[in-house]
This record gives sequence, C-alpha cells and structure tokens, in this order.
Amino acid sequence: MTRLGIVGAGSLGQTYAATLATTGTEVVLLATERSAARLRAAGAIRLHGAVDLEVPVGGVHLTTDPRDLPRGAGVVFTTKGRELPEAARQVRAGWPAADDRDAWVAGIQNGVVKDDVLAEVFGIDRVVGGVTIVGAQREEDGRVAVTSRGATYFGELEGGTSARAQAAVDAFNRAGLPTELAPDIRSVIWSKMCNATGFFGVTCLTRIASNHFGHYPELVNAYMGLIRETAAVANAYGVQIGAYPAFPIKTYLDRTDEENIAWFGERAAPFDPSPNAPLSRTSMLQDLLAGRPLEVDAIFGDVCERAKRVGVPVPKLEIVRDLVRAIDPGRATR
Ligand SMILES: NC(=O)c1ccc[n+]([C@@H]2O[C@H](COP(=O)([O-])OP(=O)(O)OC[C@H]3O[C@@H](n4cnc5c(N)ncnc54)[C@H](OP(=O)(O)O)[C@@H]3O)[C@@H](O)[C@H]2O)c1
Repeated sequence: MTRLGIVGAGSLGQTYAATLATTGTEVVLLATERSAARLRAAGAIRLHGAVDLEVPVGGVHLTTDPRDLPRGAGVVFTTKGRELPEAARQVRAGWPAADDRDAWVAGIQNGVVKDDVLAEVFGIDRVVGGVTIVGAQREEDGRVAVTSRGATYFGELEGGTSARAQAAVDAFNRAGLPTELAPDIRSVIWSKMCNATGFFGVTCLTRIASNHFGHYPELVNAYMGLIRETAAVANAYGVQIGAYPAFPIKTYLDRTDEENIAWFGERAAPFDPSPNAPLSRTSMLQDLLAGRPLEVDAIFGDVCERAKRVGVPVPKLEIVRDLVRAIDPGRATR
C-alpha cells in the first residue's frame, strides 16, 4: 500500500488527505494543534463541490507530531508559502530518520522558491517537484469547497522519471485528482509561475474577475508583458516554458498581441449585473478582498530577485511587485 504524509490540514491538505485515504493510500495528516483540534471537534473531513466526501477523522492518521510521518514515504507540504520554512524545520526535527534513504518531500505552493526552501532543510536529493491547480477553499462551517480536481504534476527536479514520483502520481490518480508525471517539472513550475505573475498582477491591481479579464485588451497586453518577462527569467535559468492545458503559456508567447487579445476576448464571460452572477477570482485577489496577507514575496519578490541575479531586466514585474506590496493587507505585520 502506498503511504504518504500531508503537512497542513487546510484547503488542499484536507482535500488530498480525504481523497487519498479513501482510495487505498495510507495517509498521515500532520496538522497544527489548532486545526487538529478543529477537525477532531468536527469529527470528519468534509469536502463538497467538485468532490463530495465525508471522511471520519479516524480514516486518516491525524497527528501534530512529525515523528508519526511514515518511514520511506513521500511527504507533501500544503502550508502557505510563508509558513513553509517553519513547517519544514518542524518536520525535519522529527522526520525522516537518518537511515531512511527513501523518504522524500514535495511542496505545491505557488512560485519557485518553495523547492529551495525544502532543499535547504531536507537536502536537494529528497525534493520532488510538485505543481497543483486543484482548487479548494475552507469555509466558515469547517467544510472545504473543492472548485477543481486539478491537474497536479510531480516530477524530478533534475528531469526524467522515478519510481517515487510515479508512486505519488498513481496514488493521486486513484484519488480522482488527475495527476501527471512531468519529465520536465521545472518547465511546469515556471510556466505556472508565468501564469501567476501575469494573472495575479493584473487582477489584484484592478480587482477584475478572471472570467472578465478578456474584455480588457489593455489587461491582456499587461498580462502578456508580465509573462514575457517571467519567461525570460526562466530561460536565463535554462528552463523552457511549455503549454499545459490549464496554463498554455508557450501558446500565448507564440501568438501576436492581437491574436491573444482576440483569443481572450472570445472567452470572456458576459458581464452580468445580477448580484449572484458567478465571478471567478484568482487566489491572490481572493486573499486581497478578504484582508489576508498576499503571497507577494514568493511570487513577485522572488522572480525579481532571480532576474537580478542573472541580469535579466524585469521593469514591469518590479512595478507590479512594488504596487502589490503597497496594497498587501499583510504589509503592517511583515
Ligand atoms: N487552495 C487552492 O486552491 C490552491 C491551489 C493551488 C495552489 N495553492 C497553494 O497551496 C498553498 C496552500 O493553500 P491552501 O489554500 O490549502 O492554504 P490553507 O487553507 O491556509 O492551508 C494551509 C494549512 O497549513 C497549516 N500549517 C501552517 N503551518 C503549519 C505547520 N508548521 N505544521 C502543520 N501545518 C501547518 C495551516 O494551519 P492552520 O489551520 O492552523 O492555519 C493550514 O491548515 C498556498 O501556498 C497556495 O499558494 C492553493
């Protein structure tokens, strides 16, 4: 039986743990004291939306002690990016054992820096690259609304395939979360990073819903400007941007601005003034509107830093970084 650890019992952590545990994977869910207490009081992990599932807390091994994480297994970190360094250090204090050669870790946080954080704590050989676009949100009543099943990608940072990444891919697919083994995971990570800098930048600064974005040719141009700069940084690090179904960045890069304006324009949802009209919002815009801290440093700060190191000019990204930092609700506490 495949064994996996999940660190963080938030939106993604609960979604992964519940779907994996009910489909033949032995799951250890490492939570903070706060979320473990909440889950024990609720008695179950409850998912609804794209996945409808109620898993009694006993169906997963819920713990607050990293020493309970499985030997020889993969552990997927689902904390927020800013929580990752501390979570990684806490886990490392109790897992893996010195003679546990097969243990590995992955992070699904937005951005590129998460793999550096994990490599620093666990050593690069233990890090498997991960990317997810599973959509999930915690709700007031403790349930998790799952808005999308995926996709998710795992792959070796050095490229190629491996038994450990394949085992995780198989387990996630059995869990009903469409997942691929990516022979070039760095391309997937950076391509998603392009989408993040582009979409987070234009939607946070304008508060425009993603499904209306295509109505604004100027925003499509701004999005493409941010993507081009991010892709140039990726290229400088030897990474080729690809076209993945949910973020076909290479396809956008290969088109003219006029073609992209027309393409996004055709796909924009009609404006609907009714109060219940569906609006899809990027996670960073959702955080902004809810007054939560933004992942501005893991996305914009980090890509600008990486650009500086290799001498790639990124003036658009720098302006967006500064503007988003200025409106970050987490600014006063950083
Ligand atoms: N949600 C999505 O749809 C989605 C999609 C793609 C990527 N992502 C990325 O995935 C990451 C997680 O997102 P999320 O929405 O799942 O966040 P979330 O709901 O806030 O969950 C994060 C969880 O990590 C827990 N945590 C923090 N520090 C911990 C530690 N030291 N040990 C154990 N658990 C710890 C938190 O505990 P508490 O409960 O005590 O706060 C919380 O339960 C983000 O970086 C985001 O960029 C999210």
